[in-house]
Amino acid sequence: MKMINYKDCYQLNNGLQIPCMGFGTYNAKDGDNREIIGTAIKAGYRYFDTASLYGTERDLGAAIRESGIPREEFFIVSKVWIDEMGYEEVKKAFAASLERLQMDYLDLYLIHWPRKSEDDTEWKKRLTMTWLAMEELYDTGKVRGLGLSNFLPHHIEVLMHNAKIKPVVDQLEIHPGYSQEAAVAYCKANNIQVQAWSPIGRSALLTNPYMMSLAEKYHVSVAQLCLRFLIQKGIIPLPKASTMERMKQNQDVFGFDISEEDMWILTCMPQNLWLGEHPDFAVPTATSEGKNEI
Ligand SMILES: NC(=O)c1ccc[n+]([C@@H]2O[C@H](COP(=O)([O-])OP(=O)(O)OC[C@H]3O[C@@H](n4cnc5c(N)ncnc54)[C@H](OP(=O)(O)O)[C@@H]3O)[C@@H](O)[C@H]2O)c1
Repeated sequence: MKMINYKDCYQLNNGLQIPCMGFGTYNAKDGDNREIIGTAIKAGYRYFDTASLYGTERDLGAAIRESGIPREEFFIVSKVWIDEMGYEEVKKAFAASLERLQMDYLDLYLIHWPRKSEDDTEWKKRLTMTWLAMEELYDTGKVRGLGLSNFLPHHIEVLMHNAKIKPVVDQLEIHPGYSQEAAVAYCKANNIQVQAWSPIGRSALLTNPYMMSLAEKYHVSVAQLCLRFLIQKGIIPLPKASTMERMKQNQDVFGFDISEEDMWILTCMPQNLWLGEHPDFAVPTATSEGKNEI
């Protein structure tokens, strides 16, 4: 189904509707998270991505309350961090997220990161117990869908081996220069909706000469080109921006089409614009969420 604006929705594998574009709340500039999120609400965003790691849950909850718009009009996603995983631990982490947000349910709750390192021999057991507890949370109705982030096919296979409930999404670093085709194809084949973090690749992509010339050809900005690329691939981008102008610009990506040839070119660009850590070998820190800070 073709999305015609940023409020259009995909249907997840449990029937839940999810907007085709969200707003990222990680690392909002100068600590002004609440104000930036408030501006994003005024810009029209209703789908917000947060995580216990980001330290933005309180500001997100406050900005939503200040907006006066009913909670049900928002789509709120949070994540359990790796050191909060485990059967009892995730239940506590979930309650703490709701408490910080001052909400009584989440739209999605994701496992943020699958594994600590290649020496992490406990990861499969930890994952299975965490998911079991999350399934129980789902059964209570306090979360409308369960999902994953930074999970590669072999991590998802481990999860699915014991899972009763299938993940509805996988949130991965995806942008031109790091298109993660293998993980995307696996998710599509298994009806797991893919979402893209760092969809505009932070500054490395914004100043890439090839991207700049291609954006000029379509009379758009590099950020818009990146977001359109993901929309045409059926991937949900989660851009973060600090000004109303950029927030609006990022929503304005439904009035042009990237040609099939250029889509292939963007998909097959050298895969050297990777920003994050590898989910089998390292865990990002709370301050960087990746090896390169913005
Ligand atoms: N699951 C995970 O492991 C994970 C990891 C990282 C991020 N995330 C999620 O993904 C979200 C987005 O990722 P991100 O913040 O790393 O990267 P991003 O959205 O790709 O890039 C954000 C950067 O792009 C700039 N920008 C935004 N719109 C622009 C425009 N139209 N023109 C020029 N510059 C523009 C922003 O600047 P200003 O802010 O100054 O406007 C900021 O420096 C996060 O907020 C978070 O919710 C998830």
